[in-house]
Amino acid sequence: MPGEGFLDISIIAPRIQGPRGADRGFIAGRSGAGKSFLAKRLLASYGISESVPKEFRGNLVILDANDTFNYPAEERYETVDEFRLNKKIRAVSYVPKPDQYAAEKWNELWRKLFYFNGPLMVYADETRAMEGVFGNRSFDDGNFFIAYLTRGRAKGKAAILGAQRPVRIPRDIIGQAEWYYVFDLPLKDDRQTMAGTIGELGIANEQNGQPIYRRIDDMNALGRFEFWFKGPDTPIPIKMMVVK
Ligand SMILES: Nc1ncnc2c1ncn2[C@@H]1O[C@H](COP(=O)(O)OP(=O)(O)OP(=O)(O)O)[C@@H](O)[C@H]1O
Ligand SMILES: [Mg+2]
Repeated sequence: MPGEGFLDISIIAPRIQGPRGADRGFIAGRSGAGKSFLAKRLLASYGISESVPKEFRGNLVILDANDTFNYPAEERYETVDEFRLNKKIRAVSYVPKPDQYAAEKWNELWRKLFYFNGPLMVYADETRAMEGVFGNRSFDDGNFFIAYLTRGRAKGKAAILGAQRPVRIPRDIIGQAEWYYVFDLPLKDDRQTMAGTIGELGIANEQNGQPIYRRIDDMNALGRFEFWFKGPDTPIPIKMMVVK
């Protein structure tokens, strides 16, 4: 298949600093599809040391609302008041206590991320946990989740957002991404949401040098741990898999 062979994972990792400004990635798939496994591989591309290429240089923030991602971060915070970023600490995780789920708390967190004085990659393991700050929800001094995703691009504020049910995430949030990773989605409305975003057809295979296309919303097009990948320079999604 076209994505077969060995490639450095950073080739498919969103850039923190680059020609487009900071990138956004979106990972969709049912529970157990392989989203977190892929995310951990992608996150290995980023770091704060001088040896990391500039495109991948920045601090890492893991938003792990369900406490299932288990990233070996150097600091772990459970309330937004305690949450702190330090340029010298590569990765911090935020695993909010139940009383931190209020929309105002999420907005406060995104305010801290937006105003951090340096490049950042924020990974949200389940974006839906933050639905309080979706869409047109307005706050006295602004919606900082939306600000991060829009104005943050020019400030080195990158993000990778994960979702089990993309249909539950507003299309204008999904549409912010230029890097997509779409795993198996058992429900048709989810597959249609992604087909409507990355295109109806993907390249699943190759035969005698000719691409074999499959429909993105075809439930049987992907095998275990396979995903449709589309990057900023990929005109048509390509089927891929990360080898363990
Ligand atoms: N490419 C792969 N090769 C081998 N094993 C994999 C691969 N991707 C995922 N797995 C394994 O499959 C299991 C489920 O994967 P993962 O935790 O990434 O799912 P998920 O999509 O994040 O699910 P959830 O939505 O429930 O968090 C894990 O044990 C993981 O190690
Ligand atoms: Mg997961």
